[in-house]
Amino acid sequence: MSVIAIIGAQWGDEGKGKIVDVLAEKADAVIRFSGGDNAGHTVINPRGEFKLHIVPSGIFYPRTACIIGNGVVINPKVLIEELESLKSKGIEVGNLHISDRAHLVMPWHLLLDGLEEEKRGRGALGTTRKGIGPAFTDKTARRGIRTCDIVNLENFKSRLSEILETKNEILVKIHNLKPLDFNSIVEEYDAYAARLIPYIKDTTAMINDLLKKGGKVVLEGAQGAMLDPDFGSYPFVTSSSPLAAGACMGSGINPRRIDCVAGIFKAYTTRVGGGPMPTELNDTTGEYIRQRAHEYGATTGRARRCGWFDAVVGRYSTQLNGFTSGILTRLDVLDEMDTVKICTAYKEDDKIIDRFPADINSLARCQPVYEELPGWKATTSNVRDFKKLPANARKYIRRLEELIECSFHIISIGPRRDQSIIIKRII
Ligand code: GDP
Ligand code: IMO
Ligand code: MG
Repeated sequence: MSVIAIIGAQWGDEGKGKIVDVLAEKADAVIRFSGGDNAGHTVINPRGEFKLHIVPSGIFYPRTACIIGNGVVINPKVLIEELESLKSKGIEVGNLHISDRAHLVMPWHLLLDGLEEEKRGRGALGTTRKGIGPAFTDKTARRGIRTCDIVNLENFKSRLSEILETKNEILVKIHNLKPLDFNSIVEEYDAYAARLIPYIKDTTAMINDLLKKGGKVVLEGAQGAMLDPDFGSYPFVTSSSPLAAGACMGSGINPRRIDCVAGIFKAYTTRVGGGPMPTELNDTTGEYIRQRAHEYGATTGRARRCGWFDAVVGRYSTQLNGFTSGILTRLDVLDEMDTVKICTAYKEDDKIIDRFPADINSLARCQPVYEELPGWKATTSNVRDFKKLPANARKYIRRLEELIECSFHIISIGPRRDQSIIIKRII
């Protein structure tokens, strides 16, 4: 396979970072294509434990080009800090490349993300407050500032002056804040530019040249399908598309080039932030999963909401993304359960539905319809061969495959690189 898209199939935090780290060994390039530093991708490998927010998870392989694609919004301060932190742990970052078309997170985006959340009060979305929504809003509204704009200081000043006036009107007149100072922003962003310019280039041309030569590319998704602004639990979603279609948009790879779309599914469900989650468990089982799996956000540290696997979401995700492979993670978290449940449909009032509703009020009324399977009560984290998994674990996996209409090709049974059962090679 030459182009593989790794897509979060649920509400994010499925273990994309771990899987990309596993696959990147054989890849010539790893490309982040959406989101920004709202993402938190954990990688545990022989070099240590890392939480990556904006740097692609292939960074540990010096011969793999790591590209921050045009579809990502970049907070330059966070990126520079992340690069420094990697370097301090002995990780070379010379293989990083930044698209000259990627948009920048600006100081007003951070302010507005927080202010808008405050204004929503009890209806707050629970964003990561990293300025992601406001940055993508500006991109679409054609008032964004891109990495190519900071390469030349005079161009940057002129673009900033066009935009800052309106932003300051919003900050002053609507939010009663002081205006942001033009010169301070110029100084700050010029210093970032000095650090980042060596990495900024036409990555789309670079990727397409690589593909022409037969190179292998891994597209690293951020977030998950149910956070997609069109198809997810709107308005409790993020602001760029985490779907396979978004991988083309955010990298400049055309859809005909993608050979494998791998959906990463956690063996249960988690969600951070607001919005309905039909299988959420507000009980001791939910708390047990959170503690056993240490389900706390890699970006904000917030406790993740935990619940059983939602196959309505899984099937919908397969349909939206066209998964050719499934990757099941965190199976080991369920090792001690007496029984495991799978949500096969929703009950909305008196109606049984098997699709994910558009209307958030409808989703909030949906009660899960469960199927219960026996647990396996055995440790799986040392297993490396599918046939050696306990019979009940295999039954659980096979039933999930039927329900989500996609076969699993990798089963992850621990956070480390080597804790993976490869059923079928996808790279
Ligand atoms: P991402 O955002 O999709 O990359 O996922 P996160 O890194 O936010 O969250 C996934 C968490 O699960 C991380 O703490 C990983 O180290 C951990 N993890 C990944 N795969 C497995 C697995 O198979 N078993 C266990 N126990 N932990 C895993
Ligand atoms: P990774 O890549 C889980 C959630 C936030 C919030 C909503 C909107 O690690 O899987 P935003 O800051 O994007 O405007 O917040 O989206 N969210 C994530 N949840 N994993 C993520 O990324 C997320 N990125 C954003 O919690 O509910
Ligand atoms: Mg995460």
